[in-house]
Amino acid sequence: MICSSFGKCGSCVLWEIPYKKQLEIKKERLKEMFGGFDIPEIEVVYGSDEHFRARAEFRIWHEGDKSFYAMRKRKEEGRGVIPIEECKIVDKAIYEIMTPLLKEIEKNENLRFKLYEIDFLSNSKGELIVTLIYHKKVDESIAEDIKKLKDKFQDVDFIVRKKGRKLVFDKNYLIEELNINGKTYKYKIIENTFSQPNREMNQKMIEWALKNSKHLRGDLVELYCGNGNFTIPLSENFNKVIATEINKESIEAATYNADINDRNNITFLAMSAAEFSQLKKENSPLLASYDLKNVLIDPPRAGLDSKSREFVNEFDNIIYISCNPETLKRDLETLAKNRKIKAFAFFDQFPYTNHMECGVVLER
Ligand SMILES: C[S@@+](CC[C@H](N)C(=O)[O-])C[C@H]1O[C@@H](n2cnc3c(N)ncnc32)[C@H](O)[C@@H]1O
Repeated sequence: MICSSFGKCGSCVLWEIPYKKQLEIKKERLKEMFGGFDIPEIEVVYGSDEHFRARAEFRIWHEGDKSFYAMRKRKEEGRGVIPIEECKIVDKAIYEIMTPLLKEIEKNENLRFKLYEIDFLSNSKGELIVTLIYHKKVDESIAEDIKKLKDKFQDVDFIVRKKGRKLVFDKNYLIEELNINGKTYKYKIIENTFSQPNREMNQKMIEWALKNSKHLRGDLVELYCGNGNFTIPLSENFNKVIATEINKESIEAATYNADINDRNNITFLAMSAAEFSQLKKENSPLLASYDLKNVLIDPPRAGLDSKSREFVNEFDNIIYISCNPETLKRDLETLAKNRKIKAFAFFDQFPYTNHMECGVVLER
């Protein structure tokens, strides 16, 4: 990939290294980091190195009567943001609308004044949700101006936000379609809730989790399930699934997603991983009908808190999806003690950055 913002933008820090070389470097880093564990050969899973991000957030920089997208500076250049001409990592649909959208906004002082950030969310059909975030009081009077934008960009749903206030002009979600092993799964994705940023890699991660859970028997417990991204395809490998997540809107989407994909063996609960872990200690009837042998976890960067780690450590088989190798390593110190690491994958969700997503399968 070649991007005119390379070398200026602080997002793609590995811009000077050819893509395949980045994969080799990251694999070596993981090998070194996890050298103290008995891990099998690291499976490297990668996809396209351009137009791979289905969601993106840009600060807006105003100078005279012009406005620009801005990204944080490279670390070497100090703090702050710099204007960028383009961003090649975002989905084609986002890439194509970015400049014309800002040109329209520039023409309308009400839309432009104190516009602080623009967020984009896209689906595989190229439909978009665009969220305009302001540092000023906004009310329904902005609707007229949004309507003018909507006339120009008919397939886009607009949302306006300022601290504590959200105005939804169309709908606040997209329906995403994922192709998993040749089968189509549909997902409602609600704006401003978690969704996997890289669609192609997400499909490959789900396929990897399916492959590595095919031989498991019984039920599945899932922590940090989001909108049911893994839950729905994986429910085909298990008798019953109980999946939990802290965000109520994500659970609402997950329940809807189970329904539109005709999955009827899943129970979704909105609660924190620590609260759910406590249910086991209390012998809650909610868990009574589940055999607690298999667990899937996909926590945020902080990894597992101590209560959840203790809970997960009671399962025979663990599938751990991690977006932070540091906390993964910390958690494996406990979880790999009495289990064998059967598979270790590196999913390159974030080309040109130092971020690394991993998948680990542990079996007692
Ligand atoms: C990395 S995302 C994974 C979501 C989902 N597995 C997916 O693939 O889209 C982590 C999820 O954990 C949720 N989360 C964050 N802290 C949590 C907590 N303490 N307990 C339960 N869920 C939490 C977030 O809302 C988010 O949906």
